[in-house]
Amino acid sequence: MQAAMDEVYSKAEFYWGREPNDLAMQLMGRFGPGAARGKRVLDLGCGEGRDSIYFACHGCNVTALDVSGPGLAKAAAWASEEDVRLETIQADVLSYRLAEPVDIVYASGVIQHFPQPMRSEVFSHYKQMTRIGGYNAFNAFVEKPFIGLPPDYQPDEFFYRSGELLGYYWDWEIVAFQELIFDCNSSGVPHQHAMDVMIARRVV
Ligand SMILES: C[S@@+](CC[C@H](N)C(=O)[O-])C[C@H]1O[C@@H](n2cnc3c(N)ncnc32)[C@H](O)[C@@H]1O
Repeated sequence: MQAAMDEVYSKAEFYWGREPNDLAMQLMGRFGPGAARGKRVLDLGCGEGRDSIYFACHGCNVTALDVSGPGLAKAAAWASEEDVRLETIQADVLSYRLAEPVDIVYASGVIQHFPQPMRSEVFSHYKQMTRIGGYNAFNAFVEKPFIGLPPDYQPDEFFYRSGELLGYYWDWEIVAFQELIFDCNSSGVPHQHAMDVMIARRVV
């Protein structure tokens, strides 16, 4: 799968587009004008950087992490075009751990790569490494018996139970949560996804 992603990221066109995800926009919407400036953001599985660049354009200090070298190279080139600073890290989210605290841990389309047994540890780590007042924002594909698996499902993807994400954040303020069912045409085969979308804030 990763070789396939590297190949699509090596093309000039942006596979995921250049518009940020709704989740990224919802997150930045929580800050008043200019208030996101200087916030430290970790974008896990940044792909070609559409959300990382969006955060950087709001003045955030962004670290964009992905396993794909071509994806990161594309994100870095885009950052230069926009004249914003972007730190890139090529790493595996499964083993990557933060060395310094951040204000925001963010991931879109990525956390299904965490096998269920490691989730409690990894989300605890993100929580510990988030400054008070900071946010963790994720979306997670959830399993619904009436939807089934998507055609491009990979064996290293593990769906969540509905509401599971909330459980890891029981002691944080849940500032936004939604469960969505939406149509998708990735891989050229029309199908549906169910997804939980959460923004949680560390209060103490
Ligand atoms: C569905 S894409 C989403 C990309 C980006 N977040 C966006 O919304 O445009 C998932 C990304 O996760 C990356 N990825 C998958 N497994 C990974 C892993 N174990 N470690 C780091 N990145 C990974 C892929 O290379 C890909 O760029």
